[in-house]
Amino acid sequence: MAGEHGRSVANNEIGVRKEGYVSRRIGAAVLALLGLLLAALPAQTQTKSAEGDKHAWWQDAVFYEVYPRSFADSNNNGIGDLNGITSKLDYLQQLGVNAIWITPCFPSPQVDFGYDVSDYESIDPMYGTLADFDKLVTEAKKHGIRVILDFVVNHTSDQHKWFINSKSSKTAEKRDWYIWRDGKAPGQPPNNWLSTFGTTAWALDPKTNQYYYHYFYPQQPDLNWRNPAVEKAMLDVTRFWYKRGVAGFRLDAVDTLYEDPNLTDDPVLAGTDKFGRPNLDEKFNKKLPEVHDAMKKLRSVADEYGAVLIGETWTANVGELRDYYGTKNDELQMPMDLLMTGFKGLHADEYRKHIAAVNAAGHWPTYVITNHDIVRSYTRYGDGTHNDDIAKMMAALYLTLRGSAIMYYGEELGMENNDPTRKEDVQDPIGRLGWPLEIGRDGERTPMQWSNGANGGFSKAKPWLPVPPSAKTHNVENEMQDPNSMLSFYRQLLALRHNEPALLDGDYIAIGNDPNLFMYVRKYNDDAILVALNMSGTAQSAKMDLSSAGFAAPRLSVLLTNTKPSGTGGELGLGPYGVLIAKVSK
Ligand code: GLC
Repeated sequence: MAGEHGRSVANNEIGVRKEGYVSRRIGAAVLALLGLLLAALPAQTQTKSAEGDKHAWWQDAVFYEVYPRSFADSNNNGIGDLNGITSKLDYLQQLGVNAIWITPCFPSPQVDFGYDVSDYESIDPMYGTLADFDKLVTEAKKHGIRVILDFVVNHTSDQHKWFINSKSSKTAEKRDWYIWRDGKAPGQPPNNWLSTFGTTAWALDPKTNQYYYHYFYPQQPDLNWRNPAVEKAMLDVTRFWYKRGVAGFRLDAVDTLYEDPNLTDDPVLAGTDKFGRPNLDEKFNKKLPEVHDAMKKLRSVADEYGAVLIGETWTANVGELRDYYGTKNDELQMPMDLLMTGFKGLHADEYRKHIAAVNAAGHWPTYVITNHDIVRSYTRYGDGTHNDDIAKMMAALYLTLRGSAIMYYGEELGMENNDPTRKEDVQDPIGRLGWPLEIGRDGERTPMQWSNGANGGFSKAKPWLPVPPSAKTHNVENEMQDPNSMLSFYRQLLALRHNEPALLDGDYIAIGNDPNLFMYVRKYNDDAILVALNMSGTAQSAKMDLSSAGFAAPRLSVLLTNTKPSGTGGELGLGPYGVLIAKVSK
């Protein structure tokens, strides 16, 4: 698969060479440099694929998260759909994407926009039919793209037939499929646990006068994974989709699968949260050791089908992240490293330390800088002056590291958050509940910007969320024409990633410890690539000593840059938020 796709990307290499981006940016002035020699890229070097193909397909893959409500609207009702996604496969292939992760598209009352599933084995009519889904999988395959579904393992919708049965009486067949308990005293929930979505975690059902547990909205009751029948039913759901050609799952909210059966109160910490509730140390309802047993079981079914499991793993540190791989590599192949999304500011040292720790943990990393729950990376990192260059710099960072990478739709265009400014416009329930401290997640879920036309070319109807003014400039149609656009940069970057053995297979060797320039070499046998990133808003230069990577007098051939790199007296200089990706030779 990686090879297959590698070939098709090679055709896109026009982006790298024919359009002449690199050679135009690197003029004759920088060809002769003191100490460092920077040269334009020789024309024939970029079509190799990784030797030996030791990797599993997902290790070399670039994953792309599609939020189906917002990607492409084929029936012009203001909400995206599966046929919309199918119609954009050419675009995704040309971008260099190998797999799409579609956030939940199953039947759902849409309280949490699909993360409240009422039937795990069908498609919500709003998005299409099972036949549309099958067509998407078939067409995607023709484009060298695999399909990953989002499996909401922690909870169902309160409209799922399992919960409807469970709720019907204390003796119902599926009563024990969810977590039901008596209150502590009349009017008092069983314990102090809180829902992450702003309320208590317990909802009283007046019919049976018991409470059920919900870590998310009350309409999302938690499944009881201690019940073997639940476990079996959920494993069977994965089989259903594997048989339909799904290549794996992104497992939603795995941290909260199990709760302490004794319902011990969580310790209360200082301060209050965005909803004004006391902060809790959620040690009794989060990350219980039993989670790892469930991961192993899901993995053993995945292995029967050669599938990959990606985890929504909000770990506190690299140690917790490592645990999700399983002590025998028998849990998740791709627990997401979401830790970088929490970094404040851009500090080379913080990134350097983090990447070193991740590599030292000894597994294949999965990097993510943005998704449908957090402010878009473009907005989060942007300084208002160098936004595009910062976005290119961050892209160059996580897409050239050793590991898999998951992009978020529109990131490749420089899509920014479009946050609601009035409570009455908010769609995401947490935004209405927590306004104005918690404004919800609408801002990062707006329609994909396909053109500078009405509604960003997403739909002929008014979209479910508004398109920001920046869609006029940051859209597929315009950016395709502009060799310096974000999209052109991403296409070149992904082409390099797919075709350079050092980027696919190479070791990671950190270079120097400059506070502003984050530099590393990726090295595979004789192939080596230098990545140098200026994480500051001013021009920077730093000593370039590549001897730790085996190069005493390196020669650099520029592969991709957004600046005018310079080399004087053995120092490499980059403009504000400049990126240099260069082939290193002796
Ligand atoms: C995950 C999803 C998020 C959803 C929540 C509850 O965190 O990414 O969007 O609201 O789970 O299912």
